[in-house]
Amino acid sequence: MLDTDQEVKNSSEARELPQVRGEVAFENVSFRYEEDKPDVLHDVTFHVKPGQKVALVGPTGAGKSTIVNLLMRFYDASGGTVRIDGIDVKEVTLASLRKQMGIVLQDSFIFAGTLEQNMRYGNENASDEQLRSAGASVRLDRVVAKLPDGYQTELEERGSKLSVGQRQLLAFGRVLLSDPRILILDEATSSVDTETEQHIQEALQTLLAGRTAFIIAHRLSTIKDADLILVVENGRIAEQGSHAALMKQGGIYANLVMTQLSMQESVILQTSS
Ligand SMILES: Nc1ncnc2c1ncn2[C@@H]1O[C@H](COP(=O)(O)OP(=O)(O)O)[C@@H](O)[C@H]1O
Ligand SMILES: [Mg+2]
Repeated sequence: MLDTDQEVKNSSEARELPQVRGEVAFENVSFRYEEDKPDVLHDVTFHVKPGQKVALVGPTGAGKSTIVNLLMRFYDASGGTVRIDGIDVKEVTLASLRKQMGIVLQDSFIFAGTLEQNMRYGNENASDEQLRSAGASVRLDRVVAKLPDGYQTELEERGSKLSVGQRQLLAFGRVLLSDPRILILDEATSSVDTETEQHIQEALQTLLAGRTAFIIAHRLSTIKDADLILVVENGRIAEQGSHAALMKQGGIYANLVMTQLSMQESVILQTSS
């Protein structure tokens, strides 16, 4: 993601972003990946209060990841403004911005080293106590208990000793140790095995508590509870609001929910017949 021609750099007057509360605003944001290509985001506007959970839904290629990438400042908006606590993200240093944010993607990076070293990647100064406590909070302790050398188990670069779900619990532990004000989960729970699914859902509760969070997920149960749902289509926010408000509106979101529910029903019907 960082390997791009239009690499984002600190502006010459960049200042440190102070400790944020986690308010996020997109104001008429447009974006294109390349100068001579069409915009992939058009007039994106939304407002998130500190601590709110935001779910982004919409088809593949709609622009969900692009929106969160602009928040992390992997790219800069072509038009409009992205603000955190009212401050334009272009005016602050990348380091001071990113250290207050955490991101977990679909499959997390594991390097050759112990499980503990992999987790400390989130915060090298964490005490053993903090490490164990974070591990327990995200249900990683149950995984660790089954490993021959516990937290000292050597992991390979591809993390092959762990399932995808277990790797994601490790990534949650990592991000919990770094204690960000703003958390982004971009399909972080999409390829999780059913075995760890329950643990993942429990870990999420702890991880999300007290933070502003952006969640790109497909599970209706995760989306429904969000304070704000952004329905993204063709680079635009087609609808936004709470689950209840969008259901009442009877538009795209309501249709998506109906489709998902009827699909689940037919699955149940198939298995029970
Ligand atoms: N690095 C990139 N360079 C050029 N185009 C990209 C890049 N990443 C995504 N896109 C394009 O931007 C649009 C939005 O993509 P994305 O934000 O990844 O969608 P989503 O996360 O909703 O699936 C798509 O048309 C996609 O092909
Ligand atoms: Mg995406």
